[in-house]
Order: sequence, then structure tokens, then C-alpha cells
Amino acid sequence: MMSLAEYVRSTPFIVCAHRGASGIAPENTVASLQAAIDTGAMMIELDVQVTSDNALVVFHDEHLERTTNGHGDIRACTLSDVRSLDAGSWFDARFAGEHVPLLEEALNVIKGRVYLNIEIKPLTVNEQAARNIHNIVLSIINAGMTDHTVFASFDHHALLFIKSLDGRLRTIALNVPDDERLPHEVTRECLADGYGCSVAELTPERVEDCKEHNIPIGVYTVNTPAELEYVIDMGVQGVVSNYPDVIMAHYRTLSFTA
Ligand code: G3P
Ligand code: CA
Repeated sequence: MMSLAEYVRSTPFIVCAHRGASGIAPENTVASLQAAIDTGAMMIELDVQVTSDNALVVFHDEHLERTTNGHGDIRACTLSDVRSLDAGSWFDARFAGEHVPLLEEALNVIKGRVYLNIEIKPLTVNEQAARNIHNIVLSIINAGMTDHTVFASFDHHALLFIKSLDGRLRTIALNVPDDERLPHEVTRECLADGYGCSVAELTPERVEDCKEHNIPIGVYTVNTPAELEYVIDMGVQGVVSNYPDVIMAHYRTLSFTA
């Protein structure tokens, strides 16, 4: 598997599965990671939270209610509490018994198969937050996935911190809503390698600015063939999708007819 940097240079377009294939399996579970791989998506995006005993787990929300049978703040629970939860039934009874994965478990599924886009959630800038980010980075390094991973965040201080740990780590600055700055201004400030925004935030000015400054631009969340065609016409290089199955299938028809 070539490095992500080489891959970005060599491919016209990247489809990234959002929280795994979260439209067809419960988000951020091993089932959704496997489903994403099965669709042929080139990359998987996932979110990381930290338990009260400092375990890194793959989970989006701060609270457990929406995607598990648990209650309360995940950051106040031990790993053992979190591991006892059912993270699949809320989505479909077929997925009963899916667990909240450890980051390490998710990396084992992803490694060597697809690229990883790991989102660092906005964190209060303090010593514990820095330790958490450091631990996430160490997990990636220890798994031997440094060259196949990109760190994305709305928290641009977190991205700068990641670059300070090792300038070779690749990062994507996610546009903060209401930030009117152009991508080159945003990425220059936090030394990011790429820029991400929502479909609603995608403007010709932003795309043009990325082209002019040679900044790869990706868009979230693109779930339909019509949205895919719209963003490709706009000139983006990648999409994040809950339905990588639908997007990959449609992308293949577009590449075939191109
Ligand atoms: O790729 C960006 C996207 O993951 C950010 O939003 O809420 O799904 O984490 P969210
Ligand atoms: Ca995310």
C-alpha cells in the first residue's frame, strides 16, 4: 500500500467512509468499518473519545444515549463500563452485540486495507487534552500506520500540536462554521496539508483558492449520486460519505464514462 501522500498525488478522487459505512451499519463499530472496506472505499473516517481510565475508543458523541444502550458522558465511564454496552441494536437488531471498539481494535481492521482519516474532536486546550492527542498519535505510530493516516479536526490548535509532535504527520483543517477565511489562510495558520468543509460551505472561491495554492480539498457529507456529481463538478478531490456503497458505485459509472 503506497503512502497516503503518494496516493493523493496519484488518484483523482478519494471516497472516505464516514464513521465507517455509517448508513448501512452502526457508526464507528467494527461492523461499519468492515462494511466500508467491503464497498471498496479508499479511506475510513472515525472519531475517538477517551474514557475515564484513559482508554482510546472509537465513538462520536460525548454522551452514550444516541448510539448505545448506556447513559451519560462517555468520558466519565471506565473502559469496562463502555465495553459492556451494546452499540449496534439502536441501528438494527441484526447488529445487537456490536461493541464500542478500542482504537487499537479498529486499527487492526483498517491497517493495510484502507487509508485512515482520524478526527480529533475539539478539546479544551489543557495538559490532559495534549496527553490524549499524544496517545492517539502514539497509537497510530505503534500500529505502523503513520504514512497511511491523516488527522482531521475543527480544532486547529490540536492540528498544530500534532505537527509539533512530528512534522511528517498529515493533517486536514476542517472549516469552522462562520470562518470566512479562504482555505490557504486557514491551512497556513495551522500548517495543515488539506482542507475540509461541508457541502453547504463549498463555494467556487474556496475551490479556486485550493487550486491556486495546491491544497487538496474534501467535502462532507456526500450521500447521493446527485451530490457526488455536484461536488465533482465543483472540483473537489474527495468526499466523506455515510453511504460509500452508493458513492463508490456511482463514481465507478462516472469514471467509466469519462
Ligand atoms: O469529516 C468531517 C466530519 O466527520 C465532521 O463531522 O460530526 O461527523 O464528526 P462529524
Ligand atoms: Ca467525524
